[in-house]
Amino acid sequence: MVSFIEIESVSYRYEETNHDALSGVSLGIERGECVALLGPNGSGKTTLIKHLNGLLKPQTGRVAINGVSTRERTIAQLARTVGYVFQNPDHMIFADSVEEEVSFGPRNLGMAKDDIRRRVDEVLAFTALAPYRETHPMSLSGGEKQRLALAAIIVSNPEILILDEPTTGLDYKSVQSMVHLVTRLKNEGKTIILVTHDMSLVSRIATRAVVMLDGSVVADGTPLAIFSDKELVERAYLEQPPALALSALWGVAPSMTPESLARAFREGRR
Ligand SMILES: Nc1ncnc2c1ncn2[C@@H]1O[C@H](COP(=O)(O)OP(=O)(O)O)[C@@H](O)[C@H]1O
Ligand SMILES: [Mg+2]
Repeated sequence: MVSFIEIESVSYRYEETNHDALSGVSLGIERGECVALLGPNGSGKTTLIKHLNGLLKPQTGRVAINGVSTRERTIAQLARTVGYVFQNPDHMIFADSVEEEVSFGPRNLGMAKDDIRRRVDEVLAFTALAPYRETHPMSLSGGEKQRLALAAIIVSNPEILILDEPTTGLDYKSVQSMVHLVTRLKNEGKTIILVTHDMSLVSRIATRAVVMLDGSVVADGTPLAIFSDKELVERAYLEQPPALALSALWGVAPSMTPESLARAFREGRR
């Protein structure tokens, strides 16, 4: 079967380095999946996802979206299908107001003025940024900037959303609001690939976890299966969700989130 996103034996080496950032990565991702890409710094996560929107083209192997090789598409064409939210939102922000920032993509796609206005209103409401419409993006907080970066991408309604460490450096409240937003996007049927070290994101959202180490995929499975594998957790420097460690300690059903742990605990005691 041909996958929606196909990554076939992809290798990539940056100029002036003497090791492969990716070596022979193969992965198929289906529509509607929510994949957490895990692994220590330098394992190749960002390099891999940059291949999905054509920022990088494979030096060997092939990447195809919906059956079409990324070699046959420009970054602008791919951007209609693949929305990419950079690791550092400062690198995406260039307009003088929140509204302008969010309008940029749809204007670039040639959307009609009324449609742009409607989409921008929707997305600002969705990301709770409506009160900041006129605000200069650089005066937003970290969490607000991250939501703006997301807003500027989802306004064009791409089918695939790639999020590179969307909660790194955010406070608890901003993390919760990002979890909430990504959950809603997932429920809308978006295909989501998120690079993260944040166990609250993985345990609440991901339907699948892919682990990278030294440019290779070393594990691929449900988050529960991945985090239950102690040897893998150690080898890939993963952080086990606290709920999972506690459920093992208490001898109740394996639980990824505090909520399911509480349920397992109540049921286990009956
Ligand atoms: N622009 C670059 N130039 C040279 N080497 C790079 C560049 N970007 C990443 N690398 C190297 O490629 C490897 C994978 O990096 P990266 O994909 O950023 O990993 P991750 O996102 O998992 O932290 C690392 O060894 C990193 O040092
Ligand atoms: Mg990275």
